[in-house]
Order: sequence, then C-alpha cells, then structure tokens
Amino acid sequence: MELKLIELRRDIHRHPELGNKEFRTTSVIEKFLSQAGIVTRRPSKTGVVALISGTKEGAGSSRVMALRADIDALPIAEKTNKPYSSRTAGVMHACGHDANTAMVAGAALLLARRRNEFAGTVKCIFQPNEEAAGGALGMIRAGVLKNPVPDCIVGIHVNPWLKTGTLGVKAGAMMAAVDRFTIKIAGARSHGAYPHLGKDSIVIAAQVIQSLQSVVARQIDPVDPAVVTVGTIQGGEAFNVLAGSVTITGTVRALNNKMRRDIERIMRRHVAMIVKAYGAGYSFEYESLGRPLENSAKVLSLCRRAGSAALGKKNIVEIEKPSMGGEDFSEYLRYVPGCFIFMGARLSVPHPWHSELFDVDERALAKGAAVLEEIAVSYLLGK
Ligand code: NI
Repeated sequence: MELKLIELRRDIHRHPELGNKEFRTTSVIEKFLSQAGIVTRRPSKTGVVALISGTKEGAGSSRVMALRADIDALPIAEKTNKPYSSRTAGVMHACGHDANTAMVAGAALLLARRRNEFAGTVKCIFQPNEEAAGGALGMIRAGVLKNPVPDCIVGIHVNPWLKTGTLGVKAGAMMAAVDRFTIKIAGARSHGAYPHLGKDSIVIAAQVIQSLQSVVARQIDPVDPAVVTVGTIQGGEAFNVLAGSVTITGTVRALNNKMRRDIERIMRRHVAMIVKAYGAGYSFEYESLGRPLENSAKVLSLCRRAGSAALGKKNIVEIEKPSMGGEDFSEYLRYVPGCFIFMGARLSVPHPWHSELFDVDERALAKGAAVLEEIAVSYLLGK
C-alpha cells in the first residue's frame, strides 16, 4: 500500500494542475480507484466522488460518512529538485494536496477490501479548486452532499510541521473566515501646487489605512483573534497631480461570523467618516470568500479515538492555536457536522505550505490512509 500511494502521489505531483483545471489529476484518481473495483462519478468537470458500500447485513446500513481531499495545485515554480518535481512550468503542489489525495484514495482502497466487515457507505470526495476558493461550494452545488446524504465528514491535510506519524486535532474553531474588501475613494484631481482646489485621494487613503489598522487594535476584544490587512493600494497619475481616485483592497480574517460582521460594520464607519471629512466620495465592497472552520465535538472525538487506534495514543497531537488561514472545507460544515485533521509529514528540513521548497515525508501517506480507514469503519460500526 505504501509504495502504491507514493507512486500515486508522485504521479500527481509531477503533473500539477491549477483549480478547476485538474483534468489529468481527475482521470488519474479515477483510474487508481477503478483498478480496485471502486465505482466513481464526476459531479463536476474536475471533481470525483467514490462510493464504497459495505456488504454486511444488519444495523448501520443507512450510515454514511464522507472523507474529503482537495486536488488542486498552486501557481508557484517548484525548486525542490526532487526526481518527482513538477514538470509543468510555474505550477506546483506546494500545499500537499497531492498527498491529501493519495491519503483519501488509499483509504478508499483499504475500505473496499473490508466491505464485508461493515454496513453503510463511505463517500470519498476529491474536490477541485480549494486554493482559489469556490471548489467546495461548486461540489456542494453539484450535489456531492446528496444521494446519499453523509451524516458527517472528515477532511485531511498533510502538515509539514507535525512529526510524521502524528495526527493533529483541534477542538472548536480551527481556521478563519476569509473576507475581501475593496474601497474606492473618489476625490478630485487638481494641480499638485493647488491642493485646495481638489480633493486628494491619496491623503484620504492614507488616513483610511491608518484608521483601519486601529479597528482590531482598539475596537475588538483583544482575546478574540482578528486581522485586517491592506494588500494593495493603487492611485495617482503624476508626481504633480492630486490623485483623482485610489483603490484599496485587503482581507479580514476572523474565527466567527459575529466578529466578521462587527469588523465590517466598524470599517464602514471609519471609511465613511474620514471620506466625509474631506468632502470626497467612496464605495465600499465587502465579500465573504470563505466561512470560519469549526470542528464538531462529536466528530472530533471519533477522529481522536480512531486516530489513537491507528497510530497509538501518544501520536495524537492537540493543536492549541487556530490558524488565521482559510480552508473551504468549512463550506461542507454548513450542512454536515465534521472535523478537519492534520497528518504529520515533517521532513528533516521542513518548509512552509505554499513555499517553492515545500515537500512532505511520504511515509505519512499510508499512515493517513490507515487513520481515515479507521475513522470510517469506527463510525459505520457505531464504535
Ligand atoms: Ni491546502
């Protein structure tokens, strides 16, 4: 199994594909599963769903558990120099979704071998386009949470910081909501020598940015984590002309929906007051790109128990701090209780996710598959 999963991971790693373009990846997954007699379907252009139904008669036949992997890569040029490095210029599996895919595919194979031991169904979801966000939503709209409806869902992700063979679990809020804001300030152009004849969008923008940085620092409870980051600012035409307009974009991260609504409301007030003071105009757009990820206590405890059975109790690592990064696994959790877990895959010199040097310890693949197998079987057997 271990070699098979390493081979699958390397195949996907060599040929990374960006979000919603995972055509080859999808067919590699389909081939891998169909060779083991697992039937798959494609609810969207580049997503795969596999159903493994138990053949044991009796209780539990209506139970359904979903396992989810993401399958897309990133627009990064790989610099690991490994024999299995990306052969596609400028695209790389720098988040380990190749490994996530191999772990869920491995679990599918292990479960298919044990069909006669359980009743009920395991639904393996191979989801495209996690990185650009929208992949989970697309799969949900395409009906992956129907026919059959899963009772619960577990998502797995390799983690380059956790020791190989350990499983990282976290109670409650785990990943942040991802919001994007766009502020356009509409001032009035004028000669740089006569500022009183115009409305300087750059000076207004500077005050807006300073002020936004005080929202989290001064108006939000310091024990509730939140981030406001301005990522881009554009405006102005010449050194001696007052800028007619400036556009500012940025992101807000928070761990619950109340917090993100509070921050949006306060930001709107700051922008309105500052712009008004200068008699200029503005527009303010605030969009949600992803929801906060909150683990279900029940599914978490299932993962802990099954993880201990598969890896040994000492290899369960409780993650203390949530991350302000986003993960669209949270979309499934609107409909189905679930839990997101980390499989440790640390190399002697670890590199962070989304680094051009990112790689994982491949010994984690078979371990991750075994953990997922144990989680699914435990659930279906009602353990
Ligand atoms: Ni990822």
